[in-house]
Amino acid sequence: MRKIAFRNRLTVKLLLISVISLVVSIVVTNLTSQLVFYLVSGQETIESSVLQVSLMMIFLLSTAIVTFIFIFILLVRKKIRYLKSISQTVQHIANGKLGLTIEIKGKDELTQLAQNINYMSKELENKFIHERQLEKAKNELITNVSHDLRTPLTSIIGYLNLIKNEQYENKDQLHEYFETIYAKSQRLKHLMDELFEFTRLSSPDVQLNLNKVDMASLLQQIVGEYMPIFEEEQLSVQSSITDEDFPVLIDVEKMVRVYENLFMNAIKYSMKPSDIQISFKSKGNTAILQVSNRVENPPVEDVNKMFERFFRGDKARVDAQGTGLGLSISKRIVELHNGDIRAEYKDGWIIFIVEHPLYK
Ligand SMILES: Nc1ncnc2c1ncn2[C@@H]1O[C@H](COP(=O)(O)OP(=O)(O)OP(=O)(O)O)[C@@H](O)[C@H]1O
Ligand SMILES: [Mg+2]
Repeated sequence: MRKIAFRNRLTVKLLLISVISLVVSIVVTNLTSQLVFYLVSGQETIESSVLQVSLMMIFLLSTAIVTFIFIFILLVRKKIRYLKSISQTVQHIANGKLGLTIEIKGKDELTQLAQNINYMSKELENKFIHERQLEKAKNELITNVSHDLRTPLTSIIGYLNLIKNEQYENKDQLHEYFETIYAKSQRLKHLMDELFEFTRLSSPDVQLNLNKVDMASLLQQIVGEYMPIFEEEQLSVQSSITDEDFPVLIDVEKMVRVYENLFMNAIKYSMKPSDIQISFKSKGNTAILQVSNRVENPPVEDVNKMFERFFRGDKARVDAQGTGLGLSISKRIVELHNGDIRAEYKDGWIIFIVEHPLYK
């Protein structure tokens, strides 16, 4: 808390005002007494003088008190008005007008009180907005999840019903039904796994199992594992991953998830046949991975929208391929590692860039 200069302290100011009021009241009383003495001088008798002196004393005392009060109130009225406005604002804030602020005047304890109330009011407003956003996000999540879970489940129940009522023509059709049920169950499982991972990573106290690894060889290994799938999907890979040692401190399991989602996305959503470019290099203290693939059109104009929860492009929706959670999970994981992930679109290429601090 900021210290208030001695001369600005409220007590000092009040003392000063009291002294001024006292001096003024003495001066006024003195002048009044001289005037009164002048008016009554020469006309008193012995009996009346005692009464007159007592009345005069009372009159002068009253003059002193009234002058003191009047000057005191005159000098403190600005502070009283300020205090009233502080009290009214606090009442408005208490009634729900969060974010309301008090005009800052002066440099004393009242100013400090007003500054603290302003800070509290803004903080309360921010917390309230944040809570509302969380509530909205939670509701959206529940709506999306129940819709996405219901679709494969309805299909599974439908096929099981056909089998239960023996509504199939031959063994081949029965086998086909089982295949569909299996595929839909797999999708349901994938959905639930992604959802579980998403909610787990969203919690503020998520723990990372950090280990020092060489990122270049880890990436070479994962790309090697994906090579047969790339080839099968008619995607020719141009990879430039350096042989240098790139030490990083990561939760391997979680970061592998990020890379796998990028490679799987490239496989699922790129034009076929076409090229995929994977590059890994360092710049200063940062390791940079880029995964680029070709698309006819970007799934959305602002490609960074792909990182939003449940975002799925038309292709993904029509083919019911993904959950739309992969990239938002990746973003959270990369950010937990103090890194950055973003996307760019240029001349028919979608480029994903993952930046990660190197371990010193
Ligand atoms: N490499 C890419 N090329 C083109 N579009 C992409 C690419 N990666 C992602 N997208 C678009 O972004 C959407 C979101 O991708 P994300 O990885 O978050 O979810 P998903 O792949 O649909 O589901 P999941 O990863 O859970 O299986 C995709 O549905 C797709 O439309
Ligand atoms: Mg994905």
